Amino acid sequence: MPNRGDFVTRNIGEDPFIMVRDDKGRIQVLLNACRHRGAQVCRVQAGNSKAFVCPFHGWSYRNSGDLLGVPVRTQGYAALDFKEWGLFSAPHVESYMGLVFANLDPDAVSFEAYMGDYKWYFDIQFALSEGGMEVLGEPHRWIVDANWKQGAENFCGDSSHTQMTHKSVLETGIIDPVSAGAPKEGTGLHIHDCSGHAISIRQLPGEAPFISYPPEVTQHFKPGRLNQDQFDLAERSLLQNGTLFPNFSFLHIGLSDSPQKPHAGFLTLRVWQPKGPNQMEIWNWILAPVEASPEYKRRAYQVGMSSFSPSGSFEQDDVAVWPSVARTAATIFAEINNMRFNYQMGLGDMSSSEPIRDWVGPGVANSTNAGEGGLRTFHHTWYERMTNSKLELDHHDH
Ligand code: FES
Ligand SMILES: [Fe+2]
Repeated sequence: MPNRGDFVTRNIGEDPFIMVRDDKGRIQVLLNACRHRGAQVCRVQAGNSKAFVCPFHGWSYRNSGDLLGVPVRTQGYAALDFKEWGLFSAPHVESYMGLVFANLDPDAVSFEAYMGDYKWYFDIQFALSEGGMEVLGEPHRWIVDANWKQGAENFCGDSSHTQMTHKSVLETGIIDPVSAGAPKEGTGLHIHDCSGHAISIRQLPGEAPFISYPPEVTQHFKPGRLNQDQFDLAERSLLQNGTLFPNFSFLHIGLSDSPQKPHAGFLTLRVWQPKGPNQMEIWNWILAPVEASPEYKRRAYQVGMSSFSPSGSFEQDDVAVWPSVARTAATIFAEINNMRFNYQMGLGDMSSSEPIRDWVGPGVANSTNAGEGGLRTFHHTWYERMTNSKLELDHHDH
């Protein structure tokens, strides 16, 4: 949104908002609801406007949210205090690495404090090159009949679904199972309990795949805003995917749409937008480093679209499976049997893997991805936020 007046519509939870750069250049996140009698004032997805005019009775608002005009003011609203009747705005709006995060709680901590130690991993996704990452094209959105937590927990590190759910894609040869994330000794790295967030990383010891970006792109990578440990981890990584609790996820990966063509690295960002308990809208953005050539960006977009997008090969597999979980949870039989799901993979006695003692980054790092530690982190955080209580866990519970 480079220009004053640029806006897009977004949701926070299920509430509709307008995110707009106002005439003073500030980013505002305004509730898309008229203060007169509640009609939605902005009806389009994106655009540029100095004002928003309500289609019901014509109240108008500046792009800062301030009330600008009301029809029949002198006859009907002579004493209306305009200062009192602007659009509601999110009390906390922060821009970070070019992304905008808003929080509706006036007492919320800053975004950086919210990320906590997870910032160490989050920054790697956006700051490999000086220019950072660029969004390619418009966001893709699609509705899936699954609970939003299905996507959020998956991106925390559900490595063990890869070789089964995505069996048919792997058989095409566009990516080998380990590169795609299937558990294998010595290549997986799961980091959980990182300020309530989690990340899953695939690395090839002794190699420098740099998330499968080709040399024409990696020549622009330098530590810059990252420290050497963060940079080295990126260099060893084939893939990194994680969820910033609750519903913001990323997948930094390289693959191809044909076994004959080389891999292209790209970053996909996700928002798992809840639409009630049994449905979500998935938002997806594909990004590449700013310095990459236009040809590379086109290729990265093509590869991203063919794998992780509404029409993507991997995506089709996931959304075929996810809806059945919410259906199961809603069955009468599950209820009368107090059915519990099993999230024990890698837990305590299930695995001989111990957390890495001298791990360079924050969080609890396990040098295996045959586990569900990241998913447990997600659900622990969920439980704590929903009950406003702290879970007491010993190291076997992670
Ligand atoms: S509801 Fe918007 S002008 Fe009446
Ligand atoms: Fe998947």
